Amino acid sequence: MNERIEPVPIGRPEPSTDLALVEALEALSDDEKHLTEALYPLFFERRPDARPLFGVHALAEREEMVRETLRSLFALAEGEPWLEGNLEALGRSHFEYGVESDMYADFVRAFVDVAPARLDARARAALESGLARITDTMRRAGERAASRTP
Ligand code: HEM
Repeated sequence: MNERIEPVPIGRPEPSTDLALVEALEALSDDEKHLTEALYPLFFERRPDARPLFGVHALAEREEMVRETLRSLFALAEGEPWLEGNLEALGRSHFEYGVESDMYADFVRAFVDVAPARLDARARAALESGLARITDTMRRAGERAASRTP
């Protein structure tokens, strides 16, 4: 029983939240296809104004978007330093696509609503707050880009 306990560096996310987020992400990654198929109809039902922003045959883009969202959540759980700049660039490109600030909250809700039912409340809450953090960074970058656009 000579286990060494590694000190947790200050500034890292709360470890229990981290674990809950990783648990949620593992469940979501197990069935990414279902996630993509369920997410967009629900999101478009709630935000019909977002539908025309996507190309008619944009299945590849939709899949890529779900993959990038999951990748960003993993990076958040792992405290990856590249995440913030990446999200800011995405926020600017999404502003160019015509994405409105208030669409992000609907996207987060739809994403959590299509997550597998087996996720417990803690994993679901960690997923929701991770998505909120990611989309807030995108939204703020989009708003800064909007304020610079004449
Ligand atoms: C309100 C939420 C969102 C809306 C309405 C939205 C909308 C869009 C649209 C319209 C496209 C272009 C598709 C096309 O050309 O047909 C796109 C592409 C993409 N989205 Fe989103 N998006 C949202 C959230 C996110 C999030 C949270 C992420 C990742 C963190 C993301 C990552 C991507 C990526 C990687 C692409 C592929 C093209 C690129 O790199 O810009 N999106 N999205």
